[in-house]
Amino acid sequence: MRPTLAPFPATRLRRIRRSPALRALVAENTLSPSDFIWPVFVRDGDGNVEPIASMPGVNRLSVDKVVEAAREAFAMGIPAICLFPYTDAAGRTSDCAEAWNPDNLSNRATRAIKAALPDMVVMTDVALDPYSDTGHDGFVVEGEIVNDETVEALVKQGLSQAEAGVDIIGPSDMMDGRIGALRSALESAGHQNVILLSYAAKYASAFYGPFRDAVGASGALKGDKRTYQMDAANSDEAMRLIQRDLSEGADMVMVKPGMPYLDICRRAKDMFGAPTYAYQVSGEYAMIMAAAQNGWIDGDRAMSESLMAFKRAGCDGILTYFAPAMAKAMQG
Ligand code: PBG
Repeated sequence: MRPTLAPFPATRLRRIRRSPALRALVAENTLSPSDFIWPVFVRDGDGNVEPIASMPGVNRLSVDKVVEAAREAFAMGIPAICLFPYTDAAGRTSDCAEAWNPDNLSNRATRAIKAALPDMVVMTDVALDPYSDTGHDGFVVEGEIVNDETVEALVKQGLSQAEAGVDIIGPSDMMDGRIGALRSALESAGHQNVILLSYAAKYASAFYGPFRDAVGASGALKGDKRTYQMDAANSDEAMRLIQRDLSEGADMVMVKPGMPYLDICRRAKDMFGAPTYAYQVSGEYAMIMAAAQNGWIDGDRAMSESLMAFKRAGCDGILTYFAPAMAKAMQG
C-alpha cells in the first residue's frame, strides 16, 4: 500500500518540477538510441534513394544505400535494423516463391549489412504479403486465407533468412502455429541462436496505410486482414496470443500498432515480463510528420514524447521510422 500524502502545503508536488536538473533527477524513464529498431524499405538497383510520399523523410533504398544508412545508424548507437523489401511485380505470384529465394532482396540486403557491420543486429519480416499477388500475408484458397499451408511456406521463408545470416526473425503474419513450426525448423537446421520476435498482438489497423504504399502492396490487397489480424476491441485475446507465442518458443514479443495500443504493452509487460516491443507504425509516423509540416505541432517534441510513451508503458524497445532522427536529436 502507498502511504498517504501529507496534506498541502507539506506536500507540494511542484517542488520536484522546478528546474531541468530536478526534472532529470526524478525522471522515471529514459530514452536512448539503444531502444530502437529501425525499419527500412529496400528496393532493387544501385545508388537509389526513392522518397515515399506518404512517409516524409523515409525512402526506399537500394542495397548499397541501405548499408550506408545502417552504418550511420549504428554509429549513432542504434543497435538494430529491420528490412522490408519492395518487390517488383514479377516477384509477386500466387505461389509466393520469391519469399524463400536465397537471393531475394531481403536476403541480399541481410548479407550485405552483416558483411559490412557484423555487430549490427539485422531483423527481417516473415509474412507472404511482399511476394503475393493478393497482398495477403498468407495463401488465399477460394477466398480463405489458409493457415497450415501458409505456415509451411513461412518456415521456408524463415529458414532462407536464417541462412542469409539474420539475428532476429519477426513473424508478422498472425497465422496460428507459426512460432512453434519456425522454432523447431530453426533448431533442426542448426540455427539455435536465431531469435524469434513474434508480432504476437498485431491488430487489423487503419494505421498501416503508408507502409502498404512503401512496399507496393496497397493496390494489390484484395479485401482486408480481419480474419487473421486482431480486432481493436480485444485485450484479453492479446494476452492469450502472447502467452501462446512465448510457449511455442518466441524470445521477444511485439504489440502493433503502438500508440493506440499502449494499454496492451503495459498489460503484456506486467503479465509476462518478456522482452516487449512496440511498433510505432507508418500511419503514426505519417500523422506526426503531416501535422508538423503544417506547423500544427512541434514535430521534434511530438516525436520524442510519442517515443517516451512506449518506455512508460513498459516496452523494452520500439520499432520506429524516427530512429535516426531521434538519435540525431539526442546527440544535441
Ligand atoms: C505485413 C506488415 C505490415 C506492416 C509490417 N508488416 C502491414 C500489414 O499487416 O498489412 C506494417 C508496418 C507499418 O505500418 O509501419 N506483414
